[in-house]
Amino acid sequence: MTVVTDAFTARHGRAPAGVWSAPGRVNLIGEHTDYNDGFVLPFALPHRAVVAAAPADGPVSRVRSVQEPSGAVEFSAASVVPGDVDGWAAYVAGTCWAFREAGHPVGEVELELDSDVPVGAGLSSSAAVECAVGVALAGLAGVEIGATELARIARRAENEFVGAPTGGMDQMASVHGRAGRLVFLDTRDDTVELVPFDLAAHGLELLVIDTRAPHAHAGGEYGARRADCERAAAALGVPALRDAVLADVERLPDDRIRRRARHVVTENERVLEVVRLLAADADPREIGPLLDASHTSMRDDFEITVPHVDVAVEAARDGGAVGARMTGGGFGGCVIALVPAGAVTAVTTTVQQAYAERGWTAPLVFPGTPSDGAGRVG
Ligand code: GLA
Repeated sequence: MTVVTDAFTARHGRAPAGVWSAPGRVNLIGEHTDYNDGFVLPFALPHRAVVAAAPADGPVSRVRSVQEPSGAVEFSAASVVPGDVDGWAAYVAGTCWAFREAGHPVGEVELELDSDVPVGAGLSSSAAVECAVGVALAGLAGVEIGATELARIARRAENEFVGAPTGGMDQMASVHGRAGRLVFLDTRDDTVELVPFDLAAHGLELLVIDTRAPHAHAGGEYGARRADCERAAAALGVPALRDAVLADVERLPDDRIRRRARHVVTENERVLEVVRLLAADADPREIGPLLDASHTSMRDDFEITVPHVDVAVEAARDGGAVGARMTGGGFGGCVIALVPAGAVTAVTTTVQQAYAERGWTAPLVFPGTPSDGAGRVG
């Protein structure tokens, strides 16, 4: 927060009107279900995008990012439309556009951005920026916007301005996240329930393992999976795979389409089972096999894992994790592992050794702690 406040003050000779932030996310379970009207169970990370903002003096908006040394990007927040801005600033300009499209007032703004959400790691660094800018715009305009509306604005920026055909999970997690809670989201109607997730009380930790795997072609593969899911729903005669029944899925004639649909249907069941276990105050170790099954399903049926991810999952289990799976869109990114507190070092070194043996860049390992969602911080 001080980084952007100081940078803003030094550059403009005045303090910002305020500072707002929004987090990245990890998904505990429920992958590629959010664009099938299904269930997801993410939580907000402590890692955040932070934005210092104030109304601009002139007729132009400017955004600078601590992570982008190339300097300021200029656009008009009051008139920008899709296609006008690309690169990293599109997440910012796109949120201004979507905010306006939602009928809210947007004046020209000066924005100073900083983020410690790892980029390209599947931790929703883009949703963090969109949601931070969204709450900043609401704060500057003095309008009250509900968290779900804010998430929809941020998602619209991602889908229609940036052009990434994602579901709504990341933005909903970024705005609804709460310390110590999972965000149980029904993407059919955006109903949210916060589920307590106190691993420490059970002597457990959730480790996030950033595989740092290069993930080329991920954009095209994501769209291809979406298209397969739509084909499956059409073949089954249901509005979305959320409504499909496993017995019907197993009768689909096309092998690939059948496996894609099977992942979505069984993944929805796993999310509901995890929520049921946690709500019944079960030992969280009991969700371990569901995390493992989710990974197998993503690897074999949905085919979105890569060797870096599969090796991290296997090594985490060998080191003592009670469950592990890839999290996020796939083709790289992060793995999560549910680990007894006493086995954190063993899991970390087992994964590191597995990578070193293959000559791969060392993974980054850090604790995933459910944290608060978007809001004003200064
Ligand atoms: C990405 C997308 C989300 C979701 C996940 C997969 O993170 O942004 O909407 O589809 O992939 O669960």
